[in-house]
Amino acid sequence: MPLRNTSTSFGAIARAFHWAMALLIIVAIALIELAEFAPKGSALRRGMFNGHMQAGLVVLALVWFRLAWKLGNAEPAIVPAPAAWQRRAAHAAEWTFYALMVALPVLGVLMMQADGRAVALLGLSLPVLVGADEGLAHRLEDVHEWLGNALIVLIGLHVAATVWHGVVLRDNTLARMR
Ligand code: HEM
Repeated sequence: MPLRNTSTSFGAIARAFHWAMALLIIVAIALIELAEFAPKGSALRRGMFNGHMQAGLVVLALVWFRLAWKLGNAEPAIVPAPAAWQRRAAHAAEWTFYALMVALPVLGVLMMQADGRAVALLGLSLPVLVGADEGLAHRLEDVHEWLGNALIVLIGLHVAATVWHGVVLRDNTLARMR
């Protein structure tokens, strides 16, 4: 398989970015959703919160490389070509994914710092961008949770659209990325 995209298929690098980041995002969401079932104050709960943050920060670190790779590569065509409204919807969804892959971790970092807690990625401390401010921390937490839930809905729509392309339209949407 070529490293770069071709006119009909995503290359190995784009596929690796897609599946690695999908996995990181699913792990981040699963850990934070399941953490509420772990006993309050337990090492397990702290570990799940920390795992959520680390996975989210790795997404933030990788998204710039993924974006650069996307902009430097051709987009493989869907055959047969979907209707114009479907192409517009797919592009809107794709750019919303990118916006959320940046906004969610950034909000997460700001929210922790506003709460007076230091944030580190794999042991490396991140620069402090906001001082402790309880009110701000709560507002950022609300936005982070709201956007996190919007991302879960978007992932659901993305998977449903892929199944629809494969089962109803029977085009090559999924095969381009498999
Ligand atoms: C891809 C990146 C991320 C995604 C998709 C994401 C998503 C989410 C979601 C879905 C929730 C739970 C919302 C709910 O309970 O309804 C959440 C909560 C949380 N996130 Fe993130 N997040 C990301 C990155 C981060 C980062 C980088 C940090 C911190 C450095 C962070 C810190 C937190 C914390 C502390 C909570 C729990 C808030 C609370 O209920 O006390 N997140 N996140």
